[in-house]
Amino acid sequence: MTGARTIRIGDLEVHRLGFGAMRVCGPQIWGPPKDRDGAIRVLKRAYRLGFNFFDTADSYGPHVCEELIAQALRPYPNDLVIATKGGLLRPSAPRWVPCGRPEHLKSALEGSLKRLKLECIDLYQLHAPDPEVPFAESVGALAELQKAGMIRHLGVSNVSVRELELARRIAPIVSVQNEYNLEDRASEDVLKACERHGIAFLPWYPLGAGSVLKSSRVKQVAARRNATPAQVAIAWLLAHSRVMLPIPGTASLAHLMENAAAAKLRLSPDDLAMLD
Ligand SMILES: NC(=O)c1ccc[n+]([C@@H]2O[C@H](COP(=O)([O-])OP(=O)(O)OC[C@H]3O[C@@H](n4cnc5c(N)ncnc54)[C@H](OP(=O)(O)O)[C@@H]3O)[C@@H](O)[C@H]2O)c1
Repeated sequence: MTGARTIRIGDLEVHRLGFGAMRVCGPQIWGPPKDRDGAIRVLKRAYRLGFNFFDTADSYGPHVCEELIAQALRPYPNDLVIATKGGLLRPSAPRWVPCGRPEHLKSALEGSLKRLKLECIDLYQLHAPDPEVPFAESVGALAELQKAGMIRHLGVSNVSVRELELARRIAPIVSVQNEYNLEDRASEDVLKACERHGIAFLPWYPLGAGSVLKSSRVKQVAARRNATPAQVAIAWLLAHSRVMLPIPGTASLAHLMENAAAAKLRLSPDDLAMLD
C-alpha cells in the first residue's frame, strides 16, 4: 500500500491502515449482503490494494462476514492478518448483547476457527466486557484458549483504562479496539495507555460511520489538500498517534480505493492545527 507505515501486532507486522470488514454484510450488519459477488470483490480488492489487516467478528451477520472473508481470501496469503472477535450475541438485527461467559467464548472461538477455516486466530479480541460476568473471568478464559494454541494474540474492545490494566495482568494484550475519531475522542485516555504500553489502538467508527465527513473543518482541509474528507479523517488518525491502526469500513469499491489512498496523505502542521 503506497505510503502505508507498518505496526506490530505482537510478532506480526501489518500496514498501519486496516480494513474493517463489517460493512460487507447485509443492512444493519444482519444477514447476507444483497450483492454477494460485489462483497467478495471488495474483500479481494482490499487485499490487492495493500490492506493486510482485516477486522471482523462472529456477530457480523452473524457469521456472514467471517464466511465471506474465507471465501474471498483463501488460500490466505502469508502477510494477511485476520482479527476477529467474540463476546457479543445477536438475538435480532438491532440487538448486540454482551456474553462473556467462558463457555460461550470457547464455542464462539471454535465457530470462528471453523468459518475462517483456520487452526489458530492471529488476533482474537473480546468484543466487549459483559456486565454480568467478571471481566477477569472472560479474559482469563481467552488466556486459557491462547495457551491451548487456538489464539496467537489477544486483544480487547470497548474497554476503559482500568479494564485494560486488569486484562494486562492476566495475559499479554496486543491491541485495543474502541470508538475513536476526529469528533469523538472519549477514549483518548485509553489511546494514551496504549501508547505507554506499545499496544496497537484500532479506532472503530474512524469516519464516525460517515458523520465526520460532514465536519466543516474536515471539508476545509480536504479542499486545500485536494483530498476527500474521508482521506483527511484517516490521515488525521494516522498522524495523531504512532499506535493508531484505523480500520475504515466500506462496501463500495470506489470508497475502498479512496480510503487506501489516504495512507499516502501527509497532513501539514497547519492542517493538523486546524483539526486538533
Ligand atoms: N469493536 C466494536 O464494537 C466495533 C463497532 C463498530 C465497528 N467496528 C469495526 O470498525 C470498522 C469500522 O467501523 P464502521 O465501518 O462502522 O465505520 P466507519 O469506517 O467510520 O464508517 C463506515 C461508513 O462510512 C462510509 N464510508 C466509508 N468510506 C467512505 C468514503 N471514502 N466516503 C464516504 N463514505 C464512506 C461507509 O459507507 P459505504 O459502504 O457506502 O462506503 C459506511 O457507511 C468496522 O468495519 C468493524 O470492523 C467495531
